[in-house]
Amino acid sequence: MVGEAWSGNDQCQFDVSPSEENEIYPVITSWVASMSLEEYFTQDHRQCDQLFLAVEQAAEARDWAGIGKHAKVFCDRLERHFQMEEGDLFPAFEEATGMRFGPTQVMRMEHQQMRQLLVELQETVRDRDPEAILGVTETLLMLMQQHNAKEEGMLYPMAEQALGEEGPAMLERLGPLPD
Ligand SMILES: [Fe+2]
Ligand SMILES: [Fe+2]
Repeated sequence: MVGEAWSGNDQCQFDVSPSEENEIYPVITSWVASMSLEEYFTQDHRQCDQLFLAVEQAAEARDWAGIGKHAKVFCDRLERHFQMEEGDLFPAFEEATGMRFGPTQVMRMEHQQMRQLLVELQETVRDRDPEAILGVTETLLMLMQQHNAKEEGMLYPMAEQALGEEGPAMLERLGPLPD
């Protein structure tokens, strides 16, 4: 993964020019192998928060040139995060703990709610409707904060403990976090 460009996600349809695509996806140059599973996913939350802030600021500033780009970067990054959890972390957690219909099911449902809001964000950005954009981002922020607090406070520590030696192997597979 190191040295490779990180590419976007087809689910995130925002108008971005080819030159902007290059700015959006920096080449990955570093990989902190000493991170714990909990640190890795928590840091990714913080980076998603930063990207989200840029969307809000662009909406507040009526920055129509910039908002599509910021929304695309944020949406891609959040979707990538969801896919790491649904594709790797949650199944490994379920396997290790035997809890298949517990916290991971709730988290998956909340991902779907946030994905629905990302679709609404795409529509409101396309319509350039600042009030509607801010309405969607407010709801999304609330959901994200509650969701992340549950993962960071409960699910990640439990997964860290349950997975033990499997944790570092999973991070190796997931690869470095984009800057
Ligand atoms: Fe999640
Ligand atoms: Fe998460």
